[in-house]
Amino acid sequence: MIILGAGAAGLMCAGRAGQRGRKTLLVDHADAVGKKILISGGGRCNFTNVGADASRFISKNSHFAKSALGRYSPQDFIDLVDSHGIAWHEKTLGQLFCDGSSRQIVDMLVCEATMPNVTISTCVSVSEVRYHDGQFFLTIGGKPFSCSSLVIATGGPSIPKMGATGFAYELARQFGLKIIEPRPALVPLTLGGDDVLFRELSGVAAQTNVRCGNTEFEEASLFTHRGLSGPAILQISSYWRHGDQIGIDFLPGDDAVKTLLSAKRSSPRSTIRSTLSNALPARLAEALAERLDIQGNLADTPDGKLKEAGQKLGNWAFLPNGTEGYAKAEVTIGGIDTSGLNQRTMAANHLPGLFAIGEAVDVTGWLGGYNFQWAWASGVAAGDHV
Ligand code: FDA
Repeated sequence: MIILGAGAAGLMCAGRAGQRGRKTLLVDHADAVGKKILISGGGRCNFTNVGADASRFISKNSHFAKSALGRYSPQDFIDLVDSHGIAWHEKTLGQLFCDGSSRQIVDMLVCEATMPNVTISTCVSVSEVRYHDGQFFLTIGGKPFSCSSLVIATGGPSIPKMGATGFAYELARQFGLKIIEPRPALVPLTLGGDDVLFRELSGVAAQTNVRCGNTEFEEASLFTHRGLSGPAILQISSYWRHGDQIGIDFLPGDDAVKTLLSAKRSSPRSTIRSTLSNALPARLAEALAERLDIQGNLADTPDGKLKEAGQKLGNWAFLPNGTEGYAKAEVTIGGIDTSGLNQRTMAANHLPGLFAIGEAVDVTGWLGGYNFQWAWASGVAAGDHV
C-alpha cells in the first residue's frame, strides 16, 4: 500500500497497516513528517479531546464520523500516549496537551510505524497517479511504483507555507469522488465598514458568548488589527458564511439589561463605562460605552435607554467582511464528500482500493483537539482495513 501525506492521519495509518504486516510506503513532499503536529497547540500538541464525539464535528453527513470515532476513542489514543511514557495534562474543556512538546507525539507515531515492512520517504513529489485493473500506478520522486491500496492523506490547503495543498481534492476528483466546497475554518474574521473602529482595540480580549445562526460558543474573543480572533471567534468561523452577522454577548452568564438596571439602583452615580469595567477590560468598556452613546450617570439615564443598551451588550452585531484565509486557518472545512466513502473503512465505495483520511475528508472538528482525534480515528479505520 502507498499512503500519500505523512501528517497526523498518514502516520497513524502507516503504523496500523504496518503492524498488520502490510508492505507500506508513506510519502510526503515536505522535508519532515508531521509538521502541523509540531506547531500545534503552541508547541505542546492538543492531541485529543475527551469529549470528541461526532456532535463536535461539522460535515454534510453528520453521522459519517460516528463509526471511526466510536471505534478509536480519545481513551485509545491516551493509552497509546501513556504506553510511550509521554506526560500530559488537561488544560480546559477536555483538551489534552503534552507536558513536554509536540515532538513527542511525532516521535511516538514514527516509532509505531518503524518496522521492516514500512518505508517513510520525505522530500518526494507525486507526479502521476493512474489506476488499471486493480492496481494504482504512481510516479513518486521520478520513479515508478504500484500498489493495490492507495490512501489519500494529504490534508487540506490551510497553511500553505507548511506544505499544505489541495492535492487530495485533485486526486479525489480524478477518481470520481465529489468535493464539498472547501473553505478556511478555525480562522480569524476580518472587520470592515463601521466595525473597523473596533480594530483600535487590537490586543484586548474578553470572555464572550459568540453566536452565528443557531450556533454559539462561550469562550474568549480577541480584537486584532484586522478584526476578531480568539477561541470563540475561531469556533464560530467554522459556521460563518459571507454575509452572516455574528452576535457577541459581552456579559455572558449575566442578563445585561438586569445588570445595568440594578447598577442604576445600587450605584446611581456610576456611568455605563465604570459599570462595564467591573466585568470587562477598561479599553473595551470604554469603547462599548462610547458606542452606546449614553452620557452622564446611570441615575440620569431613563430605564428604557438602559434596557436598549443592555440588549445591545448581550448581542452586539458584527458583520465580518471576510476571514484571514488559508494562510491563517487552522483547518479546512469541506473536502472529499463522505457520500462516496465507506464510514467503517474510509474506502471509496466504487473503488475499494482507494482510501481517504484526515482533514482531506469533509469532517471538520471544533477547536480543541478534535481535529487530531479525527486524524487518528480515520487513520486507524483505514489502517485496519487496507
Ligand atoms: P496534515 O496537514 O497533518 O498532513 C498532510 C500531509 O500531506 C503534510 O505532511 C503535507 O506535507 C503532505 N502533503 C500535502 N500535499 C502533498 C503532496 N502533493 N504530495 C505529498 N505530500 C503532500 N488540531 C488539533 O486537534 N489540535 C491542535 O492543537 C491543533 N493545532 C493546530 C495548529 C495549527 C497552527 C494548525 C495549522 C493546525 C492545528 N490543528 C490542530 C489541526 C491539525 O493540525 C490538522 O487537523 C491535522 O494535522 C490534519 O491531519 P492530516 O494528516 O489530515 O493532515
